[in-house]
Amino acid sequence: MDHFHYRQNSLFAEDLAVTAIAEQYGTPCYVYSRATLERHWRAFDQAFAAHPHLICYAVKANSNIAILNLLSRLGSGFDIVSIGELHRVLAAGGSPDKIVFSGVGKREDEILAALQIGIRCFNVEVNGELDRINRLAGQLGVIAPVSFRVNPDVDAKTHPYISTGLKENKFGIDISEALHEYRRAVQMLHIKVVGIDCHIGSQLTETAPFLDALDRVLALVDQLQAEGIQLHHLDLGGGLGINYRDEQPPQPAEYITALLQRLAGRDFEILLEPGRAIVGNAGVLLTRVEYLKPTAGKNFAIVDAAMNDLLRPALYSAWQDIIPVNTLSNAEAQTWDIVGPVCETGDFLGKNRLLKLSPADLLAVRSAGAYGFSMSSNYNSRPRAAEVLVDGDQSHLIRARETLAELWATEQLLP
Ligand code: LLP
Repeated sequence: MDHFHYRQNSLFAEDLAVTAIAEQYGTPCYVYSRATLERHWRAFDQAFAAHPHLICYAVKANSNIAILNLLSRLGSGFDIVSIGELHRVLAAGGSPDKIVFSGVGKREDEILAALQIGIRCFNVEVNGELDRINRLAGQLGVIAPVSFRVNPDVDAKTHPYISTGLKENKFGIDISEALHEYRRAVQMLHIKVVGIDCHIGSQLTETAPFLDALDRVLALVDQLQAEGIQLHHLDLGGGLGINYRDEQPPQPAEYITALLQRLAGRDFEILLEPGRAIVGNAGVLLTRVEYLKPTAGKNFAIVDAAMNDLLRPALYSAWQDIIPVNTLSNAEAQTWDIVGPVCETGDFLGKNRLLKLSPADLLAVRSAGAYGFSMSSNYNSRPRAAEVLVDGDQSHLIRARETLAELWATEQLLP
């Protein structure tokens, strides 16, 4: 459930008319709902009840520091994949001891920074990474807490670009090699083995692949225990899907109950790394129709947001709902392709949408809170959009629209 709804034919974010937000901050503009964000995080947290757990929000989904700060205030941990995300979490007031560090390509400087800051755990994804962490921890005279991200070879049944738990994907350590890596790790002077981790993909709409992965992970855990290698936590990654159109993914409570049933009798702390399920439906992208361009073959509605603002439709042919901000319209309903001003045929936000459109109308692209702004760019020298967070009937600018001068602020002319 989210807090974007119509009141008297006009779209509201919580108790604020979206039209007022567009007037105040301009378009394109990302609008987030605090109540929705917090509700989704709590749905994960509360489903665990008394079972030891930590929800580590996947920062890549939406890394605005205001969002990270609100989640941190709820007690959230964070899953990061770069030094940039690490410093964002710190700037937002997140606790180092609740940070897990995933990613296949951790550089030396990133590992050193994370060791100095004292993060909760490194999710090791490459054999050589273990040796690198051990060596750097030795240099600093500290012990590095590690968990191996294993690749359980499970089909997540999602888009191939966001499926990560198959043998042919670059992520994680082949589950058949993991035992060997654990044996190596426990011998290392500056490594402390604390957990095991897997993440099989994103936008999963069924529980079964998660449970298959868990079964494979548990089989490995049993082997480790038989060798006297004890783990403290089990991290099952993120990946729970959301409703973009007619998907019916399990609710967090349903998913977590199924996990806990499978885990019965095992008292590991459970970590999850949800991103999309927390922030996806807590945000919309607000855009204004610039021109209507009916042609012989197609009707195009050219709007002021583009693929640089929201890449998902262009990159994955992702479908996101596009709704009018005001539903009262004298225009006739027609089928439109909603396209941006960028010079690429792939620059669309939605195709074949039945809408009543007039120039200057406001539209909201739904489910844009995750992998929206965080994947945006300056392509075509377009300043990145503003981000606004609504709390009740108040709005807060949490990222100002980029200025033109910022576009080239770090560039240099030759002498
Ligand atoms: N943990 C790890 C190790 C991950 O790689 C990811 C996402 C997550 C957690 C969070 O997954 P989530 O709960 O958000 O599904 N840009 C794509 C999604 C890429 C996901 C990458 N990894 C999209 O827009 O659909």
